[in-house]
Amino acid sequence: MVFFENAPAKITLSLDVLGKRVDGYHDVEMVMTTVDLADRVALTSLDSDYIDVSADNQYVPNDERNLAFKAAHALKDKYHITRGVRIDIEKNIPVSAGLGGGSSDAAAVLRGLTKLWELDIPLSELANLGASIGSDVPFCVYGSTALARGRGEIIEELLPPPVSWAILAKPNIGVSTRVIFNRLALDDLSHPNTPKVLDAIRKKDFHKLCNQVGNVLETVTTSLYPNVLRIKEKMIQAGANGVLMSGSGPTIVGLVEHQHKAIRIYNGLRGFCDEVYVVRIIGHASPC
Ligand code: C5P
Repeated sequence: MVFFENAPAKITLSLDVLGKRVDGYHDVEMVMTTVDLADRVALTSLDSDYIDVSADNQYVPNDERNLAFKAAHALKDKYHITRGVRIDIEKNIPVSAGLGGGSSDAAAVLRGLTKLWELDIPLSELANLGASIGSDVPFCVYGSTALARGRGEIIEELLPPPVSWAILAKPNIGVSTRVIFNRLALDDLSHPNTPKVLDAIRKKDFHKLCNQVGNVLETVTTSLYPNVLRIKEKMIQAGANGVLMSGSGPTIVGLVEHQHKAIRIYNGLRGFCDEVYVVRIIGHASPC
């Protein structure tokens, strides 16, 4: 039997860091949503008890380092499952891009395996399990729009944001989240106003949202990779209404109201940036 599960990319609309914790992680406040750029995860039952994983991308490991493998392993372990699975991942989300691709693949495996193995596990429990795999996995388990707190594992679901289209521009570099967090100077942050972001979403006010979006990690990533700042400036010049970096980067997100404007900006950016996408914001959990 084969099950297919969509693994959508996530973008951050706001990312704030409140402080460093004793466990080495940082307490964050992140407003995130999902877009229609998605990996496709196929889950096939195996007669053996093994987990096989393969992805059609040279930068993704086909072994136990893959977050999708870790997700299947954690589920088998926790619920004492003695069945095996082959996981085939069609990668469409750029890797190490700040778009949560690996986390979303892991979350898709958790959701998909509950169907393949007919397990009755609520999403909240899957999200808890996901937290042991990575800080962004709980958000990806829900795959909607949410405020994530703690180190990312405390999820409060929100209404979809009042924006339909985004342009994603990813320069040809991969960024390590660990490196960016480690270089963050906590005493010198210009914090985004998370309550105002939440208020704009609640009031469905597109322009207010665009004025409030922000990411405290941007200064770290742009100081290491100045090209990210240049792409951000291009995105602003091209007319995107709200512009920020997603996650720890390097992808720059431009928010716009209409598809024709998204396509115009996409065409303007293509000469400056290796990978540019026009995506639709989903923002709610979608059946696969
Ligand atoms: O949880 P995940 O493995 O995705 O995190 C990768 C790295 O990013 C962590 O090892 C940590 O250095 C950093 N991180 C952090 N605070 C968070 C999330 C991630 O310091 N809330």
